[in-house]
Amino acid sequence: MSASNSSEVGRALAEALAAVEAAASLDELKAARIAHEGDRSPLAQASAEIGTLPPAERAETGRRVGAARSELREALSRRQAQLEAERDQQVLVTEAVDVTLPSARVPRGARHPVTMLADRLSDVFIAMGYEVAEGPEVEAEWYNFDALNIPPDHPAREMQDTLFVAGSEGDSGMVLRTHTSPVQIRSLLTRPLPLYVVSPGRVYRNEAIDATHSPVFHQIEGLAVDEGLTMADLRGAIQAFVDAMFGVGLRTRFRPDYFPFTEPSGDVAMECHVCRGASAKPGGEPCRVCKSSGWIEIAGCGMVNPRVLVACGIDPDRYSGFAFGLGVERGLMIAHGVTDIRDTMDGDVRFSRAFGMEL
Ligand code: PHE
Repeated sequence: MSASNSSEVGRALAEALAAVEAAASLDELKAARIAHEGDRSPLAQASAEIGTLPPAERAETGRRVGAARSELREALSRRQAQLEAERDQQVLVTEAVDVTLPSARVPRGARHPVTMLADRLSDVFIAMGYEVAEGPEVEAEWYNFDALNIPPDHPAREMQDTLFVAGSEGDSGMVLRTHTSPVQIRSLLTRPLPLYVVSPGRVYRNEAIDATHSPVFHQIEGLAVDEGLTMADLRGAIQAFVDAMFGVGLRTRFRPDYFPFTEPSGDVAMECHVCRGASAKPGGEPCRVCKSSGWIEIAGCGMVNPRVLVACGIDPDRYSGFAFGLGVERGLMIAHGVTDIRDTMDGDVRFSRAFGMEL
């Protein structure tokens, strides 16, 4: 019997429509589409037969088969749209997120305030063209002392309460660095001149812990060596630094001091950022931050001792330089009114959190 006669086409269409209706998923609909609309489906066969019919029947049969096929096509696309809508509805239900539910609240980690401040201080100098230089915390005595013009019997070795590292023969010649100044030597020996470096890092001293002392703390060191550098350049660098840290307008003061690796040496103080010097004037309110002196000591500094330049093979008649060093924890305490250095290393997040959770 011919697939294109009227009753066969009617039955094929009815079966196809029933299969479309019965398809309960997009996959089932796809199977129905292949079975009833595909190349080997009865309706496709009916189409193929049209050319073999007597010419008189072709037009009528063509219309009938065409109408059946287009009805099926419409039914398929309606069911497709229905099933897609059902699937989307299902996704909305199963993948719904209740944004009002409380989260797991795992606190994020963050950088330590001392690290944040060391980076901020470094950035001030990086902006002035300095490069960051770092050195080891277990350091050769030669770098920590000798090359910095601190000979073996020099009282400064005791002044700095050195922690010595034991070797197999006892004295290994190594120490836990007592300051970041050995990075000056490492930089002078390895970097081309002129040289502008800033060196943040951890340092160690054999000290008992109290509110203002710790055996481990951080320093940041600056070193510039160039032709024609003078104390005016040193003062300018320090002033730019204080401006960047505390805002423009605080004066700085330089008083003579002694460090074996700088000559002349100085201690730097800045005008108290809290009372701006008012507490030191007659009748001024007392200030806890500067103990009513009007000044806060922030750094040691000086012109690089020519002996240090010579130890590093640099001609002191051609080059001169300046250096400075300051304590990071101390800076943090001054800037934020922290009264106990132990708060900076207890690891209590209630302290750190107050400085923000920078990552
Ligand atoms: N290294 C010195 C200290 O730890 C500080 C300092 C650095 C002084 C650079 C002068 C120049 O006390």
